[in-house]
Amino acid sequence: MCGIVGYIGQKKAYPILIKGLQRLEYRGYDSAGVAMISTNGNLNVYKAKGKVADLETFCEDKDVSGSVGIAHTRWATHGEPNITNAHPHYSASGRLALIHNGIIENYATIKENLIARGIHFKSVTDTEVLVQLIEHIMLSNDLCILEAVQVALHQVIGAYAIAILDCEHPDTIICARQSSPLVVGLGEEGDFYLASDASPIAEYTDKVVYLNDGDIAVMQLGKDLIVVNTDNETQHPKVKLIDVTLGQLEKGGYPFFMLKEIFEQPNCIRDCMRGRINVEGNRITLSAVIDYREKLVNAHRIIIVACGTSWHAGLIGKQLIESLCRIPVEVEYASEFRYREPVIFHDDVVIAISQSGETADTLAAIELARRSGAFVFGVCNAIGASIPRQTQTGVYIHVGPEIGVASTKAFTGQVTVLSMLALCIANERCTITDNQYKEMVAELTRIPAKMEEALTTNEQIEHLSSIFTYAKNCLYLGRGYNYPVALEGALKLKEISYIHAEGYPAAEMKHGPIALIDSEMPVFVIATRDKLYEKVISNIQEVRARGGRVIALVTRGDEQIRNLANHVIELPDTFECFQPLIASIPLQLLAYHIAVCKGKDVDRPRNLAKSVTVE
Ligand code: G6P
Repeated sequence: MCGIVGYIGQKKAYPILIKGLQRLEYRGYDSAGVAMISTNGNLNVYKAKGKVADLETFCEDKDVSGSVGIAHTRWATHGEPNITNAHPHYSASGRLALIHNGIIENYATIKENLIARGIHFKSVTDTEVLVQLIEHIMLSNDLCILEAVQVALHQVIGAYAIAILDCEHPDTIICARQSSPLVVGLGEEGDFYLASDASPIAEYTDKVVYLNDGDIAVMQLGKDLIVVNTDNETQHPKVKLIDVTLGQLEKGGYPFFMLKEIFEQPNCIRDCMRGRINVEGNRITLSAVIDYREKLVNAHRIIIVACGTSWHAGLIGKQLIESLCRIPVEVEYASEFRYREPVIFHDDVVIAISQSGETADTLAAIELARRSGAFVFGVCNAIGASIPRQTQTGVYIHVGPEIGVASTKAFTGQVTVLSMLALCIANERCTITDNQYKEMVAELTRIPAKMEEALTTNEQIEHLSSIFTYAKNCLYLGRGYNYPVALEGALKLKEISYIHAEGYPAAEMKHGPIALIDSEMPVFVIATRDKLYEKVISNIQEVRARGGRVIALVTRGDEQIRNLANHVIELPDTFECFQPLIASIPLQLLAYHIAVCKGKDVDRPRNLAKSVTVE
C-alpha cells in the first residue's frame, strides 16, 4: 500500500527519495510523487501516474535541487489513480505539501466545512482534505505548523501516516502516525530519513525510531528529533537498531524477488529454527512459551486471525495444534472477525499471523481480542512492526524482508513457527510422548534439506508451465494438511498470472467444481503419501474419468499415481504435518513460471499491495 519516504540533511534529497520509492515499490502502488524545497526556496511538487520510473522521466528537465523532501507511492482508495489524485498535495496557498498513507474516515464532513469557508479542492482524495484543514487552522488561528497539525489531528478520524513540508520553514519536516506505519532513521551527520518501513533507510543508517500511534515527530536540521503527541506532551520513543542488510533488499542475480525468495526458503527456515532448536536437534525452546507457559498450555481455545497467505498458514496451524496439543482452534479472516461480534473468552488465546505486521484488519482483530480480555500472541516477520508491538508476546519468523508481493518464504516461515509452537505446547501438555516429540523435532530440522530437494523440480516445473500458460481456469485439490496447500497454490497463481484458480478439499470437489472439469482445465492434486492417500487416488480417478488433466505432487517413487496422472512432480517424503513446507514449493514455482511465460511483472502484480494498511 502507499509508501512514504522523506529526507532532510546535507545530501541531495532527490536521489535518496527516488531510491526510497523504488525500495517501497513492492508494497504496491499506481502513481508516485515527490515534493522538495529547492535551493532557492521554492516548494516543487512533481507527480506521475504509473511507476517510479515514470516519475523519474517526468522529473528529467525539472528543478530537483534541495536537501529537504518527501515522496510517495499511492495505492488508490479515494479517487482513481491519476496525476491530480497522486500525492503530494499542496495546500490552497501552495505553502504546504503533504503525503499520506491511510484513510481519513470523516473527510467528507471536514471537506464540506472547508468548502463552505471558500476553500477550493483540486482532487477527490481524503488526503487533500487534511492538508487544506491544516493550513486553514494555521492561517485562521495564527498558529505554527506543529500547532496546526496537532489541532487538525484532533478533528480527524481514521488511519494515517503523514509527512508535511512547509516552505516557510524549509529546515523542518513534520510527520505523524495513527494506525499506519512510519519509521524515522537517525543519520550519522544529524540528517533524518523517513519511511513506511525500514527498507529505504537501511543503506544510510541502522538507528531508527518506530513511531507509535499518536506520535508527531519534528525533524529539524541541526536539532535532535522531537516527538510529541496531539496534546503537545513529549514522548520518549526508543532508538532501535535494524538488522536489514542491503543484500536482502536486492535481487542478487535473480530476475525477480519472488524467485529469489522461493530459493531462499531452505536457509530462511534454518534461520527461523536457529537458536530455538538445540544442537542435538531434538528440543525446541521458544521464550514466549516459557514466559507465558500458563496462558498457552492452559488455553481452552485458540483463535487464529490473519489475512491472505497468513490465513492459509493459520489453517495449517489449526491442524497442527488440534492434533498435537488437543486444543480446539478456530481460524478467522481478521476482516470478518473484527465486525462479527465474536464470542471471546478471557482464557482464549488469539494468535495473530502477519508477515508485514501492519495489516489493518489483523490489527483491528487484535484490538478487539485484547478488549475482550483474551491473551494475544503474534507471529510476525517485520521486526518492530505494529503487530509485535501490540501483542502481549509472540515469535518472529526471521525469514528476512519479503519483497515479492506474492508471499512465499513468509508462508513457510509461518508454518515452521506454528509447527514449533504446537510441538512446544504439546510437549508441555504431554499430549504427545517424549519420543514422538523428539522424532518430530528431528524431522523439522531435516526440512531445509528436503526443501532444497524440492527446489530441484524447478526445471521440470518451468517446462510444465509453458504447457499451462493458456489455461483460463485451474483447480487445486488436497486433503488434510494439503488442503491449505491447495488454497495457497491457487492464490499464488491468481495473484501473479491472473488465471482464475480455485483451491478445494479434494473430496468436496464432487459437490460443485467437478462440473467444471474438462480437458481444458488443469487439475493440480497434492497427493503425497499420508493417511488420506488412497482417498486422494480415488479423487484423481474421478477427475481422469471426466477427461480432466491431472498434475500430481507425489512422494518420490510413487508408481501408482504416475500411471494415473498426466504429469507427476516427485517430492521428498516427510511427516504428514510437515508436508506443506515441502509441497508448497513446486506450487510457488509453478505460479512463478506461468506468470513469467505470460510476460507478467511477477513482483508487482496489478491491484495488489504487499502490506494492506487500510481496511
Ligand atoms: C496482502 C499481501 C499478501 C498477504 C496478505 C496478508 O494481501 O499481498 O501476500 O498474505 O496481505 O498480509 P500480512 O502481512 O498480514 O501477512
